[in-house]
Amino acid sequence: MITIGNLQLAGPIFNASGPRCTTLEELQDLNRSMSSAILTKSCTLEPRIGNLGKRYWQNDLWSINSTGLANLGWEFYRDNSQGWDKPYIVSVAGLNLEDNIKIINGLQGHVGGIELNLSCPNIRGKRQVAYSYDMMEFYLRKIFDEDSIDSTFGLKLSPYFDHCQFVEISEIINEFKTEIDFVTCVNSLGNGYLMDGDQPAIEANGGFGGIGGKAILPIGLGNVSKFRVLLHNSIAIIGCGGITTGQDVKDYLSLGATAVQVGTAFMERGTSVFEQLYREILY
Ligand code: DHB
Repeated sequence: MITIGNLQLAGPIFNASGPRCTTLEELQDLNRSMSSAILTKSCTLEPRIGNLGKRYWQNDLWSINSTGLANLGWEFYRDNSQGWDKPYIVSVAGLNLEDNIKIINGLQGHVGGIELNLSCPNIRGKRQVAYSYDMMEFYLRKIFDEDSIDSTFGLKLSPYFDHCQFVEISEIINEFKTEIDFVTCVNSLGNGYLMDGDQPAIEANGGFGGIGGKAILPIGLGNVSKFRVLLHNSIAIIGCGGITTGQDVKDYLSLGATAVQVGTAFMERGTSVFEQLYREILY
C-alpha cells in the first residue's frame, strides 16, 4: 500500500488528469483497470465544451493537446464521487481564485483527494498561476484561510527549468506543509507547436498546445528530483511526464516520487497501459 495524505493506493501507478477521464464511462473504465486511483479531468465551475477543432495529436515521441478544459462541471465530479473501488481524486482548474475556492469548498468532504491544477497552459488570457510566485502564494493563502480541508490535497505544477525557480516555489509550498499533502510534477510543456507534414498538428488554439509524451521524461525526472531535495519531506511527490515503460516508473520512484501518473501513454494505449507498466515494474 502507498499512502498519500489520507489516501491508500494499492500501487504506485495511476492516470494523469487529461486523457480519458472526463465522462462517467471513462471513470468507470478507470475503476475496472489496474490504475491505482481514479483522477478526473480538470474541472471548472461550469461545464465547458473546450476549444474547437482538432485538439490532440501524437506520434512516438510527442503529444500535443489544447483541449481547453472541456469538462462536465465540478458538480458532476462531486455527484459521482462515491462507490468506487479505489481512491477518487478530482482535478480542479477553476478559471480564477473565487471559482477555485467555491469548487474546493464544494468537493471537500465528498471526495478522497483534490489535485488543484495551477498549471493549465491552454486558456488564452489565463496565466499559469504556477509560473507567478506571488499569485500562487496569494491563491494558497486564500484557499487555506477559507476552510480547513479534510480531503487529501495536492498541487499540479508546471515544469520548471531554472534552479532558482525550484527554490522559490519550494519556499512557498513549504509554508503550507501542513495543508499540502502532495505535488504532481509535471504538467505538459506549455505553448509548444508541432507540425504534421506541412500543417499544424492541431487546429485548436492557433496550433499551440501542451507538449507531453516520451520526449518530456527528462523534464519530469529533473523536476521530481529537484523538488524531492527542496520540499519538506512530509509532502509526497507524484511524478508525471513521459512514462512509456516500467523502467521509467522505476526511475521516477528512485528519484523520490511516491507514485506516478501516466498521460500520453494512457491516451495512446487505453487502460491496458496500467497492467503493462505494473508487469514491467514487477519483473
Ligand atoms: C488542459 C490542459 C492542461 O495541461 C491542463 O492542465 C488542464 C487543461 C486542457 O487543454 O483541457
